[in-house]
Formats: sequence, C-alpha cells, structure tokens
Amino acid sequence: MKKIVFATNNLHKLQEVREILGKSWDIVSLLDIGCLEDIPETANTLEGNALMKARYIKEHYGYDCFADDTGLEIAALDNAPGVYSARYAGESKDSKANMRKVLNKLEGKLDRSARFRTVIALLLKNREILFDGIINGTIIESPRGSTGFGYDPVFVPKGYSETFAEIGNSIKNTISHRALAVEKLKNYLNETNID
Ligand code: IMP
Repeated sequence: MKKIVFATNNLHKLQEVREILGKSWDIVSLLDIGCLEDIPETANTLEGNALMKARYIKEHYGYDCFADDTGLEIAALDNAPGVYSARYAGESKDSKANMRKVLNKLEGKLDRSARFRTVIALLLKNREILFDGIINGTIIESPRGSTGFGYDPVFVPKGYSETFAEIGNSIKNTISHRALAVEKLKNYLNETNID
C-alpha cells in the first residue's frame, strides 16, 4: 500500500481521513514518523500555513505528505477570525472564549453569514497542490448543542436548522469543509499515477 504522511496528531482528523482514503493509502501521523516537535504555523493565510507544515515534513523527514489548515470566516468581521480561529481569544485556545468573542463582535450586526474553509496542501513527488473545502452558514446568537468542537455550537450550516454541534458527527462529516477538501484530495490521489 502506498504510504503518505498526514501532518497531524489529531486523532479525530486522522480517523476521518483514514475513513475516506484508507482503502488505498496507508495514512501515517506525525507520531508515526517520530516528529514530536511543534511545526511552525506562522503564515497569515490558511494556504500559507498548510504549505508551511507540509514543506517542513518534506524537508526534515523526506516523506510525501499533506497538511491542512481551517478557519471560520465571518463576512461582517472582514473574514475574521480566519487563520487565527484557534487563538482568537488568546493563546489558551479556549473554544468557549473564542465563541464569546465572536458573539460579542457580532452584537448589533445584521449580517451574520459565515463560512468554514479548509485548505489542504499536498506535496507529492515534486508537486505542490492545494485543495479547499467550504461550507456556508450563519452564526446564531447563543451556543446550542454538545457534539463536535471549536465553533460548532454557534454555526448553522446553510440548508439546516441545527448547529454543527446538534446535527451529529455522521452528518457533519459528510457535508463539512474538511470532508469536501479531503474528497478533492482523494479524487486527485486516485486519478494520479505516482508509481
Ligand atoms: P485546524 O486548522 O483544523 O486546527 O482548525 C483551526 C481552528 O478552527 C480550530 O481550533 C477551531 O477553533 C476551528 N475549527 C476548525 N474546524 C472546525 C470545525 O469543524 N468546527 C468548529 N470549529 C472548527
């Protein structure tokens, strides 16, 4: 089986990606290749961060690999928090504080439209390819639901009345930004002859 590194140690993401790609690819994590250090993510775009992580692995460990970066982009906030989504309310990466900050900033605004966007950077042989996945929706006024993570309790995807934290992971994982980006990655890998 062909081996490729997914530059993450997030078990939830690994499982999700293995479910989509696992039949034809051996997806290995950072832990599996002995990469224990913090990989720099200092770019100011999702594309920049995804490329930075993937290039780091290729340069330091020599493997073909892919890396992802995701942000919540809120129209009325000029697409903030965007690439700063994890640390929007500070270095502690506290989801509740992040949501509170978003809700405070949106107080009184009529436009509550937002989207999640995932970018995946693939480094395969000497090629660098970017894929993205977007889901549009709105930010509600107060959190609802208990599944998922991050901003899920305040995000209602377009066409649904429940938040991401209410609809359950099985539905979320088929319509989400990440699922859409991984699907594009899968199609590319399946169509590309890399032997
Ligand atoms: P990452 O690039 O996947 O680590 O995502 C960065 C940040 O975006 C996370 O820390 C969360 O705050 C937020 N985020 C990413 N994906 C999701 C999601 O599916 N639901 C809610 N928040 C998310």
